[in-house]
Amino acid sequence: MTMDYLKAPTVALGTWAWGDSGETGDGYFGSRLTQAGLEEVAEKAHASGFTLWDTAMVYGMGRSETLLGEILKRYARSGYQLSTKFTPQAAGTGDDPVADMLEQSLARLGTDYIDLYWIHNPADVARWTPHLIPLLKSGKVKHVGVSNHNLSEIELANRILGEAGFRVEAIQNHYSLLYRSSEQAGILDYCRNQGIPFFAYMVLEQGALTGNYSPENPLPKGSSRAAAYNGMLPQLKALTDMLVSIGQKQDAAAPDVAIAWAIAKGTTPIIGVTKSDHVDSLVRAGSISLTGDDIAELEALADAADVNTRGWWEKEMQG
Ligand SMILES: NC(=O)c1ccc[n+]([C@@H]2O[C@H](COP(=O)([O-])OP(=O)(O)OC[C@H]3O[C@@H](n4cnc5c(N)ncnc54)[C@H](OP(=O)(O)O)[C@@H]3O)[C@@H](O)[C@H]2O)c1
Repeated sequence: MTMDYLKAPTVALGTWAWGDSGETGDGYFGSRLTQAGLEEVAEKAHASGFTLWDTAMVYGMGRSETLLGEILKRYARSGYQLSTKFTPQAAGTGDDPVADMLEQSLARLGTDYIDLYWIHNPADVARWTPHLIPLLKSGKVKHVGVSNHNLSEIELANRILGEAGFRVEAIQNHYSLLYRSSEQAGILDYCRNQGIPFFAYMVLEQGALTGNYSPENPLPKGSSRAAAYNGMLPQLKALTDMLVSIGQKQDAAAPDVAIAWAIAKGTTPIIGVTKSDHVDSLVRAGSISLTGDDIAELEALADAADVNTRGWWEKEMQG
């Protein structure tokens, strides 16, 4: 079988925070997003050539997918790519919970195929991975990837797909200056050697690494990200100051440099864009060049911050 493997873009767009839109939710990010504001984000992204959108059923329990589908329907389907996920913890009780969750995502997104479909986490690799095979064969899913898997779980998923002539075509893990476990566990090297794109999520640590938040101006009160990060903001100052200073030499801002770092490390960052200015940042990030010294200095300051930003849903990557 000849396979047309996934071609990864330089940067992808994340929409977890979009799940906070609507009456019920401003809980995770506390960002108070409106459809009109997000339409502007999408318009600028589209015009700037950023067309791969990452979402998941569980982002706002359908709200992120519904809003994304609503906003993207003005563009030709061939002009953008959709990435969404099967989340084992939200599986239904039918014969094929993966196919069922996919059908619901397709309906919310207003489409009949997903470009890149993920198993969201390694809850039971042997159980869930085989369910991807019929979805690939039917064409409802063009490419598949695994998220939050460690190296041995990735290899197991790859073996299962390999027996049917497919393979893991993308990895999606938490990877930022502050959280380099996938690099330390050899997953970045594995991806490079196998030619598998590595998508880095939470490169900006949900805003904590942008330099825009500080003890005087913390992340939105009552949100989950405030609970996770506000206590560590004082330790991040030296690092965000360095991001600012490296950026100044290239007409760029701190978040642009943090994103450029992830690109320089060979990954495709998935950036959770909530404002149209964030798209300008992605454009600038793509043209920043970081020296080996810049990278070493940033990583040393990140280590010196001595914080652990592992998400509550993540396991250690070693093992
Ligand atoms: N597979 C998984 O388990 C998993 C887990 C987490 C995330 N993800 C994916 O990865 C994406 C990214 O993660 P994330 O959204 O949690 O966090 P993130 O990208 O690290 O940070 C997003 C936040 O940073 C701010 N921001 C974004 N772009 C900016 C820019 N250019 N300049 C300044 N501030 C900027 C926004 O905050 P304000 O609104 O406050 O400005 C935004 O809500 C998610 O949306 C999701 O698609 C996947």
